[in-house]
Amino acid sequence: MSSLIIDGKQISAEIRNELLQEVASLKEQNVVPGLAVVLVGEDPASKVYVGSKEKACQQLGIYSEVHKLAADTTEEELLALIGKLNSQASINGILVQLPLPGHINEKAVIDAISVEKDVDGFHPQSVGNLSIGDDSLLPCTPAGVIELIKRSGTSISGKHAVVIGRSNIVGKPVAMLLLREHATVTICHSRTANMEELARSADILVVAIGKAKAIGKSYVKPGAVVIDVGINRLPDGKLAGDVDYEDCLGTAGAITPVPGGVGPMTITMLMKNTVKAAKRAHG
Ligand code: GUN
Repeated sequence: MSSLIIDGKQISAEIRNELLQEVASLKEQNVVPGLAVVLVGEDPASKVYVGSKEKACQQLGIYSEVHKLAADTTEEELLALIGKLNSQASINGILVQLPLPGHINEKAVIDAISVEKDVDGFHPQSVGNLSIGDDSLLPCTPAGVIELIKRSGTSISGKHAVVIGRSNIVGKPVAMLLLREHATVTICHSRTANMEELARSADILVVAIGKAKAIGKSYVKPGAVVIDVGINRLPDGKLAGDVDYEDCLGTAGAITPVPGGVGPMTITMLMKNTVKAAKRAHG
């Protein structure tokens, strides 16, 4: 069987084109969506992510503000900035780049973001809304996973979806979103007894464990859709997913590459959340 390669760059470009139109129609109502990104300290990877977010905003006509704070910024100072952004009308979305320096309580910071502006979907109220099925701002990477599945032509309803990994930022919310899409969902994790067998019964397999090439074709039912959320740096400097891509080619019905699968979707979904939040603020 030849596997369909799910092209995250192309699907991401499709969504950005839709967003361009939405931003244009908001502009006719004198509304410009606005995103504030807060970066504390000098983490090189975080700087790269923040730069990509800024660029995406520029490309789509979204107003953006980047607040670069020194590594020794106090929690009080950061909370004061968030308070100000919460009440700033030109800002519809607030993203505090993680990880934060050790002396700052991440939970206190996330809790302080107004839920209407929580474009990361990390606030406990956003998590609760997702679980209840309310139309909240969805966490970006999990929402990107669902878009990839749907836009590559797979219907989710009635399928058995297996999620490997139970993190708060990917595994759990992906499972909840798949459930909302009417899949039958199994969550596997490091203590799962018969993971290979469970995974092999999946029509849709989502992997987010942070271990390079840990999942090979013995975990994949022929024809299954395989979504690889992992991005791992190999000793030779190359990137690899959590799925052994080459091994699964020919067994999976459809599969995401790394890079070029889930990765390009995350920032696009952040842009989508920012536009959604702007629509709501003016709706
Ligand atoms: N750092 C790495 N990924 C993310 C993300 O999705 N959101 C935030 N806020 N920080 C991150």
